[in-house]
Amino acid sequence: MAILVTGGAGYIGSHTCVELLEAGYEVVVLDNLSNSSEKSLDRVKSITGKEVKFYKGDILDREILNRIFSEETIESCIHFAGLKAVGESVGKPWEYYNNNIAGTLTLVDVMREHGCKNIIFSSSATVYGDPAEIPITEECPKGQCTNPYGWTKSMLEQVLTDIQKADPEWNVILLRYFNPIGAHKSGMIGENPNGIPNNLMPYVTQVAVGKLKELGVFGDDYDTPDGTGVRDYIHVVDLAAGHVKALKKIEEKAGLCIYNLGTGHGYSVLDIVKNFEEANKIKIPYAIKDRRPGDIATCYCDPSKAEKELGWKAQYGIREMCEDSFRWQTKNPNGYE
Ligand code: NAD
Ligand code: UFG
Repeated sequence: MAILVTGGAGYIGSHTCVELLEAGYEVVVLDNLSNSSEKSLDRVKSITGKEVKFYKGDILDREILNRIFSEETIESCIHFAGLKAVGESVGKPWEYYNNNIAGTLTLVDVMREHGCKNIIFSSSATVYGDPAEIPITEECPKGQCTNPYGWTKSMLEQVLTDIQKADPEWNVILLRYFNPIGAHKSGMIGENPNGIPNNLMPYVTQVAVGKLKELGVFGDDYDTPDGTGVRDYIHVVDLAAGHVKALKKIEEKAGLCIYNLGTGHGYSVLDIVKNFEEANKIKIPYAIKDRRPGDIATCYCDPSKAEKELGWKAQYGIREMCEDSFRWQTKNPNGYE
């Protein structure tokens, strides 16, 4: 029995493959490499000393999905595949709705045709919109998303919820990630953004290695302790471990479950700069810029439901997140190129 990991060559996917292999699972990856490199999977093999079966292809392509479910014995699917650039989604809504929503509908249809009704879905804190309460619990109502990317997550949560309601043989776990950063301790796999990074930590690491001149801090007039945006950063290895725990839950016939995966601690942009500087003994020049449209002031979660029901809790702190992000960037200044 194997686990199908869609988007398994990507940032969170590759780290999850490591955790799955180390927990003894067989892993099959489907990825179209639109935002990743097959080299990440070679590195996964070197780290674990285990094999990963790789299919290069698209979740929109029924033929390859049928082939995978015929050739492999897939027990559950961890579904990471999707486009995720918030800004890009505003200019390319059709591409985002098609890839993320039509892709997931195709995947789920082929899964049920082959009698595989276990799925773990990569959702996001973005579904809470501007959250009604802090810290955010899973009971917090979903909010208005500010971009098509966010809506694909919110809509797909609804789609999967309705599918599970209509057919209780389905086990659906929706994992709402907060802000994943960091990299595997080995420095062999990590986040590999195309072009100029949109997210904070990859921008900081590229400033640290001299690829970018200075960090722009998007706003210092939010209602937060130092005026800059506060987020719940989580080490990607902790996040990956959360998927292994979620699989155990699926094996106990979970039905429908929703979990926040975060640490429960909020750090501001300037906290990140300070922690990064201290952890890596390097200066990060920065300049205060205007607020970025669509950003909220504060977003961190109450992760106690995942601890209670999955036995999962983040192990790594901000220092390790900063050290590991920097190690990956230093060892791979141009990502997997
Ligand atoms: P990533 O881009 O590194 O990984 C996604 C992978 O999916 C890539 O390897 C890409 O090539 C692949 N892919 C995209 N469309 C595909 C398709 N149609 N068919 C096959 N493969 C396809 O991103 P990530 O950061 O690892 O994110 C993984 C998942 O987690 C995504 O669904 C993302 O939306 C979600 N998520 C990410 C974050 C974050 O901050 N990184 C936060 C919340 C949720
Ligand atoms: N920021 C800067 N400068 C930068 C980049 C970011 O100041 O160059 C600030 C942002 O304004 C924000 C914080 O750093 O206050 C974090 O920004 P990120 O872009 O790293 O992350 P977001 O919280 O905006 O969004 C991320 C993912 C979304 C996901 C969300 C919640 O990009 O896909 O986390 O999980 F939905």
